[in-house]
This record gives sequence, structure tokens and C-alpha cells, in this order.
Amino acid sequence: MQRVARQFPENFLWGGATAANQMEGGFHEGNKGLNIADVLPGGKERLSILQSPGFNFEIDKEKYSYPNHEAIDFYNRYKEDIALFAEMGFKVYRMSIAWTRIFPNGDDLEPNEEGLAFYDRVFDELQKYQIEPVVTISHYEMPVNLVKNYGGWKDRKVVTFFERYVQAIYNRYKGKVKYWLTFNEINSGLHFPIMGLGFAIQKDEDRYQSTFQAYHHQFLASSIAVKLCREIMPEAQIGCMILFAPVYSYDSSPENNMYALQRDQLFNFFCTDVQVRGKYPSYINRYFKEHNIKLDIHEGDLELIKEGTVDFIGFSYYMSVTEKKVKTADEAVTGNLLSGVKNPFLKASDWGWEIDPTGLRIALNQLYDRYQVPLFVVENGLGAYDKIEENGTIQDDYRIDYMRDHIKAMSEALEDGVELMGYTSWGCIDMVSMSTGEFSKRYGFIYVDKHDDGSGTLERKKKKSFFWYKDVIKTNGTLL
Ligand code: BG6
Repeated sequence: MQRVARQFPENFLWGGATAANQMEGGFHEGNKGLNIADVLPGGKERLSILQSPGFNFEIDKEKYSYPNHEAIDFYNRYKEDIALFAEMGFKVYRMSIAWTRIFPNGDDLEPNEEGLAFYDRVFDELQKYQIEPVVTISHYEMPVNLVKNYGGWKDRKVVTFFERYVQAIYNRYKGKVKYWLTFNEINSGLHFPIMGLGFAIQKDEDRYQSTFQAYHHQFLASSIAVKLCREIMPEAQIGCMILFAPVYSYDSSPENNMYALQRDQLFNFFCTDVQVRGKYPSYINRYFKEHNIKLDIHEGDLELIKEGTVDFIGFSYYMSVTEKKVKTADEAVTGNLLSGVKNPFLKASDWGWEIDPTGLRIALNQLYDRYQVPLFVVENGLGAYDKIEENGTIQDDYRIDYMRDHIKAMSEALEDGVELMGYTSWGCIDMVSMSTGEFSKRYGFIYVDKHDDGSGTLERKKKKSFFWYKDVIKTNGTLL
């Protein structure tokens, strides 16, 4: 048993996190429409294929496989999975609603009853075990129709479609859902607009203008979601969600430190500055000027952004980033959609993501110092290859070590004075990896018999970490 610096609060929200597109499957069931994840081929090249010029967002089964279509079939097996979450003692379960189950094309006028009924069944099942859902409204699941015919969030009309979607789910699930998150990893669009902002940069396109105009629309949508939440469900809480990766300077040179600071401002803080403080930060004006960005801001937009600030900050934490202003190609390393240089003090996962529990303590302190709103770690975990032993067990001690160190870092941050609501580890059950479309990149406490070649029975199996996490929750983080 290892000591924690500070006991977790009594009402700490322990649980796990998933996203609809990576686990539900049933991609055509219940009148669901196509979303971005449905046209994502399997394999490490998936994100570059999706961004390649001329990619038409059509499914081409001759050329590619599509692991998200069946995923792990949560659509039909949710009862079994939720029972396993309950066995681990989850207090909360973070999941997302697929926009295309509710509005198959995104611009439909009426919601799809079959889609709404599916999430009713899921929420009712969770309620049976007193597990509170934490619902992400949009987790990399934009309807393909909005991508193809509107250019995603570049088009202001999408704000209206999103508002219609939000109204429909709030009115239906008020009383069933108390915790909401607006856009998953909203800041990831800065590097990689397709998943979050719904467009790929075309050859002659001004990427800066397009990206920030799309962001402006998404900020309006986020504020609308917050305001509607307060009107329709005053007892609920709503947060934003960012990918947070503290940026370290490679060395003590002032140039590298300045560069790290700028990366921090733009990547880690820009979106939360808008969503939590309710206004565009002053440093962005220089960036806009230097990149010739002129936002189309309508009357009332800035007031809306001011009024629609979130209650808490949800964030994913997997790794830190180390930066150098000038780097050579062989110094560069990438992981989790980010790039930097290798940090000589850190080891990395099999996918090159540098493992840094202290970085989580730094992240929590930086965010709390800046905003003084409650924080919620809504993703954290280790993607690893798992092996079934001859006796049928899965001895994933590497995952336990990873999580133990990160949970200890959270307890240090609590002792530092940070206000932390909860922790939902990513991929509490194995599912399709977002960035590589692999099943073999596993995060779960629950193993799913499904493989990269599409084979597998989908049978669920408890890993060693399942029993470990159950004890962590039972002892409220005391027994690590
Ligand atoms: C986060 C995403 O970036 O990281 C998840 O919100 C994703 O959707 C997770 O699955 C882990 O990334 P990956 O690429 O290993 O699945």
C-alpha cells in the first residue's frame, strides 16, 4: 500500500471514460447517420488519409477496413458493460452522445426517436447502479453531412444545428444527467482541425483564418450550450474539455522558454481563456495580426461568450511536451496529436507518448492558479499491448503502475490546494484507438476479445487492473 499526500474528498467522482464512436458500433442501427469516425479507416495512417487532399468522406471497403463500425458493440452490450463498471464501484461514467443518432444528418429539423430512446436505456441502466453519467455533447463525432456540405464549424449555420441538438438532448435527459461537457479536447483543432472542427485544410486554404473562424463559431455554440443548461437544468453542471499537456522548455535558454510559453498560451490556454474567462485573451491579438486573421464577429457574439462561461474544466492528461524553438527532424517526437523534442528524463509508452505523472500535478496547479474553478481529470491512461497468460489472466501491472503514479500526483495537487472533482480514466474498457484505429492499443480494465484484423468474439474479461481499481475506489484512493 502506498501513501497519498492528501486524502481524496468524500464525494470524489471516480470512474471511467469512453466515447460513442469508439465503442458503440451499430453504425447504421437505429437510423443513425454517418459521422466522421464512420469514414475513418483502421490503421496508423487513418488521420493522414482523412486529411489528404481530395479525401471524399466516403466509405471504401475495397481499400480500407472500418473498425469503428462494429467497435466493441456497446450498442447491444451496454447492460453487460455497465454491470462491470458497477462491479468496479464507478461513481460516474463519462460517455458521449453521438450527434448522428439524434440528428442523423446534423441539419435535420426533428430528432430521431430511436437514437433518443437508446440513450434513455443507457442512462436508466446507469441509474440502476447509482452511476452518474458525465456526458460529452460532441466527442469527435460530427455528422459527415455537415463536413461535406457546410465545411464543418467554418459555417455559422452549424451553430444553429448544434443548438437544436443540444435543446433536444437537454429536454429529453434533464433529471437523468447532472454533468455535461461541451466539446471533447476543443483545443486539438489547432493542430488537427478535422476531428473537432470538421474540416480538412485544402491546398490553397488559409489555415489560420479558417481555423480561428471555426473556433469562433464553436465558442458561440459552447456558450449557448452553457446558457441552455442553466435554463433547462439549473441543478446540472457543465464544463469545457481540453487536451492539456504542460510545455517544458528543452533548456534554460530564454528563447526556448519564450517559445514554450507561447506554445502553452496558444495550445493549453487559448480555449479555456475564452470558455472560462469569457473573452478572447490579449496575447491572441498579436497572433491574429501576425497571421492576418480577421474574425467575422457579429453584434452580440462577445456578450454571448461572456455570459456562457463554464462551471468547471474537464481535461485529458496523457503526457507533457518538451519544446525547442529550432529543432532538427531527427529530434522531433510525436504523441497524442502533439509534437516536441525528446525529454531525456522520461520514458515513453509503446506508442511514444512520454509518461510523466508529475506533469499531471503541474497541469492541475497551472489550471487552478489561472482560473480558480473546479477541475476534473476526465481522461488519463496507458495505451499498451496486453497479453493473455496461459491461465487466462491478464497481468497488466504496467497499467497499474501508470495509474498509481498519476493518482498519487493528483493527491499531491489536492495538498497543493487544487480543487478537483473527479477522475475518469480513459478507455475503462478496451475499444478502438482514436488516432490509430487499432484494437491492440488497449487502455481498459476490461479486456475485449477484438483484434486489428477484425477477428474476435467480443467477449469481455477482467484484467488484473480491474480488481486493483475496484480497491482504489472502495478505499477512496487510499489503497494504491
Ligand atoms: C484523447 C481522445 O485524445 O485520447 C480519445 O479524447 C482518445 O478519443 C484518447 O481515444 C487516447 O488516444 P488514442 O489515439 O490512443 O485512442
